[in-house]
Amino acid sequence: MKRLEGKVVWITGAGTGIGEAAALALAAEGATIVLTGRRREPLEAVASRIATPSHIQTGDMTVSVEVEAIAAFIKTKLGRLDILVANAGLNIPDRDWSNLTAAGADALIEGNLSSAFYCAIAALPIMRAQHDGVLIHTASVAGRFISGLSGAGYTAAKHGVVAMSHSINMQECIHGIRSSVVLPGEVETPILDKRPVPVGAEDRARMLRAGDVADLILYIACLPPSVVLNEVMIAPTWNRGYVGALARTLDRKPVAT
Ligand SMILES: NC(=O)c1ccc[n+]([C@@H]2O[C@H](COP(=O)([O-])OP(=O)(O)OC[C@H]3O[C@@H](n4cnc5c(N)ncnc54)[C@H](OP(=O)(O)O)[C@@H]3O)[C@@H](O)[C@H]2O)c1
Repeated sequence: MKRLEGKVVWITGAGTGIGEAAALALAAEGATIVLTGRRREPLEAVASRIATPSHIQTGDMTVSVEVEAIAAFIKTKLGRLDILVANAGLNIPDRDWSNLTAAGADALIEGNLSSAFYCAIAALPIMRAQHDGVLIHTASVAGRFISGLSGAGYTAAKHGVVAMSHSINMQECIHGIRSSVVLPGEVETPILDKRPVPVGAEDRARMLRAGDVADLILYIACLPPSVVLNEVMIAPTWNRGYVGALARTLDRKPVAT
């Protein structure tokens, strides 16, 4: 028997990148998958590669009524929700204080933090009634460390996601609910196309693959009900932050051996 047979999984941001890879990995273990994103086409492309039952539920996770409508679909049509992978997120090119606008700050906070809150608020009542459920939030290393790369709004929002996940465990552990927050370093996905400074092929090749993070999500999803992985960081071995710091220490470009 596959490890997630009989489980219902809701993945946001499921059409591309980490969400796409997570959908494929969890489906391969037998889960029924609810795929959410704003665009239907990428979700259909992912669904076409899934052998287990899958359901496309488009929606904008920054709009709470759209989030609630998808949770209502899951409760009514599928009868349960075992795992939420709250993974939808975004960054914007104009992310520095020199060019950040109020609209940009709203997009970052709503797209990364409010959306995560709305998904948790919608999922928790279903999980409480089951006395069982796993929430897996995709934050970022920018949710734990402050650097110039990700920008103030993204960094602040992802810090909020980390805090939110821990706070869920503090109150919901008595209901058999477990919340995990995953903090990836750089992953080669479409979000990189929003960088103010384009990322070259050599750097992209050294980053994590979406499947690396999906493997971690699958591991968390398959933990026994008595175990919660509260927070976990995953990063490429060639960590560009470390390499940059090393270059300053050595006063020369480090050479890969
Ligand atoms: N790649 C990295 O280096 C990295 C590192 C750390 C953390 N992360 C985080 O990982 C998560 C996944 O990103 P990714 O790297 O896989 O990039 P990605 O390919 O751009 O994935 C983001 C997904 O989220 C969806 N999405 C964005 N806003 C949404 C909204 N308001 N409602 C519903 N869906 C929405 C997008 O689909 P639609 O446009 O169709 O809605 C897209 O499929 C994000 O939370 C990101 O912040 C990424």
